[in-house]
Amino acid sequence: MEKISDTFSSDHVRCDELFFRSEEHVQRHEWWQAKEILTRFIDEMNEHFLKEESILFPALNEHSANAAGPTQVMRLEHDDMRQLMQDMQSDIKKQDADHFLGSSETLMVMMRQHNTKEENILYPMADNILAGDQEKILAHIHEHKEKRGIAKWNKNEY
Ligand SMILES: [Fe+2]
Repeated sequence: MEKISDTFSSDHVRCDELFFRSEEHVQRHEWWQAKEILTRFIDEMNEHFLKEESILFPALNEHSANAAGPTQVMRLEHDDMRQLMQDMQSDIKKQDADHFLGSSETLMVMMRQHNTKEENILYPMADNILAGDQEKILAHIHEHKEKRGIAKWNKNEY
């Protein structure tokens, strides 16, 4: 049976793939493709953040007083990553590969640390303390995905 941690961790894998592909296109100065893939990456990241901020974190906070601190830290880190993604988008507009690759390097380190904390601490905590509501939460997440039209972006399509 699908676990809460599975669905969020698989988002990380999908986002990482898109991230590395956008970097490769920038390295080759393939600006049109870089823009295309970066846009997908940012859309997927924003969807993932939104699912966490609007569904997962509130559910965790409701069930455990200990979750408030960690979920607040995750929200702040999301904001930092949003800022970097915006910078990368404007670097592509300006076709500034050096600046893009500087920002993407910073983002990669940030994503790695952030995702490790989520995958090792927050998601297992969610599987544990939200076990009773798991089905309801997963249904909510899938419904959210469909509404936003992201479900069609299946991994096999790119
Ligand atoms: Fe995440």
